[in-house]
Amino acid sequence: MKRIVFISFLFINFNLQAQKFANLAPTPPMGWNSWNTFTININEQLVKETADKMVSSGMRDAGYKYLVLDDGWMSKQRDAEGFLVPDPKKFPHGMKALVNYVHSKGLKFGLYNCAGTQTCAGYPGTRGYEYQDALRYAQWGIDYLKFDWCNSTGINAEEAYTTMSNALKLAGRPIVFSLCEWGDNKPWLWAKNVGELWRTTGDIFGCWDCAENKGTWYAWGAMQIMDKQESLYPYGGPNHWNDPDMLEVGNGMSEAEDRSHFSMWCMMAAPLIAGNDIRKMSIQTLDILTNKDVIAIDQDALGMQGYRYKKMADSLEVWVKPLINNSWAIAFLNRSHKELSIHYNWENEIVNDTVHHRILDATIHNYAISNVWSNKAIGSTEEIMISKVAPHDVLLLRLKY
Ligand code: GLA
Repeated sequence: MKRIVFISFLFINFNLQAQKFANLAPTPPMGWNSWNTFTININEQLVKETADKMVSSGMRDAGYKYLVLDDGWMSKQRDAEGFLVPDPKKFPHGMKALVNYVHSKGLKFGLYNCAGTQTCAGYPGTRGYEYQDALRYAQWGIDYLKFDWCNSTGINAEEAYTTMSNALKLAGRPIVFSLCEWGDNKPWLWAKNVGELWRTTGDIFGCWDCAENKGTWYAWGAMQIMDKQESLYPYGGPNHWNDPDMLEVGNGMSEAEDRSHFSMWCMMAAPLIAGNDIRKMSIQTLDILTNKDVIAIDQDALGMQGYRYKKMADSLEVWVKPLINNSWAIAFLNRSHKELSIHYNWENEIVNDTVHHRILDATIHNYAISNVWSNKAIGSTEEIMISKVAPHDVLLLRLKY
């Protein structure tokens, strides 16, 4: 153990150049995480049932391949050699057996820890144990690590996350590295070579447009998170995604709100990490989470993050996302409490995306339009589009070149 601590020391001081594994997340990672529904109340049976349901419901085949255990999986103490230990009551057969079970279902397995001295829920953090923990994760066969930022006073974020990234690389197993420091230290400016995704905001809360007071901090509704991330669209791309936090689909919002939340996460090329109890989800929730045409917008190979093109009257917003083969995704988002009419002349709405160098100009090219949720062709950009969108709902379109 002394040697491991010594190596950590050397790397912290002299090897701040991160060299992450190549191409672990060419499109935004998709999966499920335990936190939004279960917090620390997790165990072996929940993981197995969730893995089974990810397969039987079609979620795995829709792209959700990472099953990630968040905070609460560990014992309160490391073992005598300093290694992390899974809570023996929650995980009586240990972590390796559980990872093997999840892998046998054609899924990948993720764990959580923290760059600070303790996790947010008070379990052992990784500070000072980076190389030792990375070794253990590799031995267990972990595929994804979410790395939080509680109890980190006095620690430099770029150094701490770079050290862990290097530790994962040295341990030799390709592990997707998910930075979770809530955007406090602007990771979009330095984490491109450190990890595959970084949180841009504080935690999400399962509401449309609220701020939930947690005492010393706030959790944010879907619209609040979306507004906070929007301006970061130049920084996301293949293998380095902006992460506006996990999904709250199926966790209490209305069906229209869930549909909009999911659509907008896809427009933002966000990681799609379901956070509901998928063992008990409704058909409507499953249909939203597994709509392949909507997911295709998120998973588009160009990996360009969409942005707000325009705010129209009455809290109607128009968002645009360039897609492969000169196609576009367009979302008309109704943030108001009333049904809104859309009257949209494509030829007057020339989109010049100077970040991604893409132009949508209906005076030069006529695009075929389809309604993505209803999977219907609805004409072309030659015609003025007249439509309606229900309160808190979205009209999601694909414009084919
Ligand atoms: C932080 C993270 C959450 C979750 C909890 C666990 O709040 O932002 O996503 O991981 O910690 O304690």
